[in-house]
Amino acid sequence: MFSERILGVDTSALRRVLALVRGGSVISFAGGVPSPELFPMEELGDVIMDVSKMREAFQYGPALGIPELREELAGYMKSWSVETSGGEIMITHGSQQGIDVVARALIDPGDVIIVEAPTYFVALNTFQIYGPEFVEVPLDSRGISTELLEGLLQELESQKKKVKMIYTVPNFHNPAGVTMSERRRKKLAKLAEEFDFIILEDNPYGELRYLGKRVRSIRSFAPDRTIYLGSFSKIFAPGFRIAWLNAPKWAIERLEVSKQTSDVCTNTFGQYVTLEFMRRGYLWKNVERLRRAYWPKLRAMLEALDEFMPEGVEWTEPEGGMFVWLKTGKDADALLPRAVERGVAYVPGSVFYALKPERDRMRLNFTFESEDRINDGIRILAELLS
Ligand SMILES: Cc1ncc(COP(=O)(O)O)c(C=O)c1O
Repeated sequence: MFSERILGVDTSALRRVLALVRGGSVISFAGGVPSPELFPMEELGDVIMDVSKMREAFQYGPALGIPELREELAGYMKSWSVETSGGEIMITHGSQQGIDVVARALIDPGDVIIVEAPTYFVALNTFQIYGPEFVEVPLDSRGISTELLEGLLQELESQKKKVKMIYTVPNFHNPAGVTMSERRRKKLAKLAEEFDFIILEDNPYGELRYLGKRVRSIRSFAPDRTIYLGSFSKIFAPGFRIAWLNAPKWAIERLEVSKQTSDVCTNTFGQYVTLEFMRRGYLWKNVERLRRAYWPKLRAMLEALDEFMPEGVEWTEPEGGMFVWLKTGKDADALLPRAVERGVAYVPGSVFYALKPERDRMRLNFTFESEDRINDGIRILAELLS
């Protein structure tokens, strides 16, 4: 009945994670969604009232998105050191659709694509639909190890395997929490030139920086080879599903075919609401509010980890985003039922790998729970790991 393409997608990880996120009264470190009490309800009401009087907000729109929002986002890309124009921007339904639009347009069955180990597993599912051959590159505290990547690329070349694309989450990685250093971004851009591949730079968390300085986007170092994905999901409201893609001119036309044959255009009402939310200065106010709300939660988690975790457990120390990544020395899949029984949920690390799962990792979200519950939850996890 079903196509091999769709049967070939392993969704067990997604189902497990969604079940954990819905997990009732437990202290949940499993989610990755914004806190609903932080949605900017007042400003949203304001904007929606005005947009609902606009007839054009209820009409079909251009496949690439409404021109005003595309121009606004081209200007925003300067803050990531990218010089671009509205003609190189496409509005998508979430960056999830951006991943799909790119994969549909670029991946033929058997194409080699490199993914980080670990990586965002829903992107893996999307890629799986198009039947690529995955190759994993490991991460450390400064993102992709470009030294290892270079070796890998040489090895693949010697096997006559041509790499089509690399997928990376350079800022506050999901799940690892780490940020790629500027030096490595430059090196990655150089390698893309030398080995002739595309970089898919996925940046939904970049604005959620609580410490340190912004690092320029990879696209600023390789504008002709990088497709950048940005999203309003984590800084505005994910329910609108408004995100964007910034690609070089030569790629936009075929990406437009990929998008148009999928859904004709992105929901027009959401685009106008987002545009107005930006134009009235509400977006930056909201980002500030989120940073102020999330930073103490990250600090609470890092302090609790320091206080309670036994010898041998290691974790990343993110400067932003939503996740801390733990190396526990114990099987995190096997431990999960006991953790849930004790009232704490996390996502076992094994779901975040394309090829070789590391079973002793766990992803902890710190943006959802209160500081007190974060402290309690980490104490319980530490007891289970002792
Ligand atoms: C790395 C990464 N990419 C993409 C997405 C999808 O986000 P959106 O809501 O923009 O589709 C997520 C969502 O959590 C994510 O973590």
